[in-house]
Amino acid sequence: MASYIIDCDPGHDDAVALLFAAKFLPIYGITTVFGNTSITNTTRNTIALVDAAGLKIPVAKGAAKPLKGSIIKAEHVHGKSGLDGANLPDGKSQPRKEDATNFLIEAASNLQDLVLIAMGPLTNIAMAIKKAPNIMSRIREISIMGGSTSFGNVTATAEFNIFADPEAAQIVFNSGIPMRMAGLNVTSTFGITAPQVTMLCENTNFLPHNIGLSLNHYFTQQSKIYNRPYAPLHDICAVIPHTHSELIQYQRMYVDVECEGIFTRGQTVCDQRDIVTATSQASEKKANCDVALSSKGDTIVELALHSLLTYQ
Ligand code: RIB
Ligand code: CA
Repeated sequence: MASYIIDCDPGHDDAVALLFAAKFLPIYGITTVFGNTSITNTTRNTIALVDAAGLKIPVAKGAAKPLKGSIIKAEHVHGKSGLDGANLPDGKSQPRKEDATNFLIEAASNLQDLVLIAMGPLTNIAMAIKKAPNIMSRIREISIMGGSTSFGNVTATAEFNIFADPEAAQIVFNSGIPMRMAGLNVTSTFGITAPQVTMLCENTNFLPHNIGLSLNHYFTQQSKIYNRPYAPLHDICAVIPHTHSELIQYQRMYVDVECEGIFTRGQTVCDQRDIVTATSQASEKKANCDVALSSKGDTIVELALHSLLTYQ
């Protein structure tokens, strides 16, 4: 059985994905990264969630900014705290002494079968690959929520987790470590509905109730931006292939990350051509990633809700 490290930037959908993963997978550790909000807040939110859920999982604090350029956040969606709406007290646990980069390297060195599940910008993982490429190459798979085969959400072409640090994403996709990508083309096609949020809010157990309150904030903010009757639970799609593999369908293809384009910086360029022979025009790159193309979204949401309701 593999061991799992979750790299995240909670973030409402990160919170749901984290609590869901803890019900199904042996989580060796959690690394935090800037993204939806500052590294201080994503780390605070992670420890608050872990302690409120009674999980004994080490948390290592990660990068506060991207490898290049300035930080972007998504506080217009997740709020100033990154988890607005949830009245979670600060957790009592302390983060590990080692930072996320060294936590990842030590885990890759010591564990025989390690899978990374990444739900935020890929800065921590890229820094670990740069520092110890041979050790990191021992990792079985990096399963990410990020990118898209088509449209973006920060720009017309770029999804937030990639746009927040394109250089990091390019390092990770070109590292040779097997990649699995759940992009917006799948993760934005389903989500939690208003009645489902209400059901969580009406639950009398502390954690389901407070996650419900937080998702009420998230649903409201999402509804101000998008005309759709649900709020996407993007990040759970990075977990599902390791818990319920039948619920998302993938195609293997070559993926790289655009870092220079005026209109395309942060785009995941997915080669969906079904090439049987190398074309004369381009040196065909070897497929490096299983890319999500379809899913059973309603079942995924039901599983997420059911797992949340098992917490006290
Ligand atoms: O684009 C969606 C991604 O950006 C999710 O991981 C969400 O949590 C935000 O980080
Ligand atoms: Ca996230």
